[in-house]
Amino acid sequence: MAGRKIALTGIQPSGTAHIGNYLGMIRPALDLVRSYDAYYFLADEHALTSVREPKALLDYTYEMAATLLALGLDPEKVVMYRQSDIPAVFELSWILSCVTPKGLLNRAHAYKAAVDENETAKRPPDDGVSMGLYSYPVLMAADILIVDGNVVPVGADQKQHVEMARDIAEAFNRQYGDVLVLPEPLIQEGVATIAGLDGRKMSKSYGNLIPIFAPAAEQRKLVMRIVTDSRPPEEPKDPATDNLFRIYEHFAGQDKVEVMRKRYLEGGVGYGEVKEDLAAVLDETFSGPRAEYEELMANRSKLDSILVDGASRANAVAGATLNRVKKAAGLTS
Ligand code: ADP
Ligand code: TRP
Repeated sequence: MAGRKIALTGIQPSGTAHIGNYLGMIRPALDLVRSYDAYYFLADEHALTSVREPKALLDYTYEMAATLLALGLDPEKVVMYRQSDIPAVFELSWILSCVTPKGLLNRAHAYKAAVDENETAKRPPDDGVSMGLYSYPVLMAADILIVDGNVVPVGADQKQHVEMARDIAEAFNRQYGDVLVLPEPLIQEGVATIAGLDGRKMSKSYGNLIPIFAPAAEQRKLVMRIVTDSRPPEEPKDPATDNLFRIYEHFAGQDKVEVMRKRYLEGGVGYGEVKEDLAAVLDETFSGPRAEYEELMANRSKLDSILVDGASRANAVAGATLNRVKKAAGLTS
């Protein structure tokens, strides 16, 4: 539909999709499809900063595509593609890097975390830091700006990256005129960052996740491992600080959540019971999509044809933006 705003987001095919991804990004992004033109893609070039095993990268890419589709992404309504199928992104990335202050990238959380870790271990600050990791935010800006994205649904941990994309677009516009659309992050209220089994951010890189599509028995086993404090059932507990409750409240219906919140505050519920309940609610939520996921995973050619179609639609838009940018910068007439 003409005149609608554009939502864009990406997810790295760098591991198994987990319920943090689902709550922080996938579910909100799918909700936006009703009111935005949506471009949702698999950030395989970003994943290359951490996945060095070619077969794994390819497998994860198909898994992530199947995950999004099984969770309800309609490829008629959403342009779904693989980042590496859109060469204009990479060209734009270089052009943007020429207006991006190096100091901006020095402040990026992921880079700073790598430097901090090196310093703690008394290694040289940039040890093991690739140029890909360092310039990750510029490529991400290119992803967003190439489709004139207005809103970028992401989890809280990606907020800084989207703000950097906006800073980079502003830097380009200051130099060359009003060429690029300024994007904004859209963060799901109340979700913030979902904690993993060990209490740190649930992440593909920490091995602390609950996969969206693990078999029910495996999912249950993982739920049982979520760390809690050692309060016995009768003791009152704070739902706001309990990671288990903070997952439960996003999956269970509102009535159940309110009952559980009261029981936490009053005392009388044990973590074991909450875990059983959470495992059941997760199974209810994902058993339908899981069957769909398995069907898609058995049909790579269907996934291929969806990705090829998405790439051709994304390339048409990306080509037009790149041309506008190149004209503005004097790279073409
Ligand atoms: P991961 O850290 O697991 O590798 P990604 O970086 O690929 O995840 O994130 C994909 C999307 O999911 C991003 O928008 C990110 O903000 C969101 N996300 C990732 N982990 C969480 C979490 N634990 N809680 C909420 N959102 C998350
Ligand atoms: N960096 C994002 C993440 O790790 C993935 C990503 C790449 C992205 N390009 C993007 C997200 C563009 C939003 C927009 O989650």
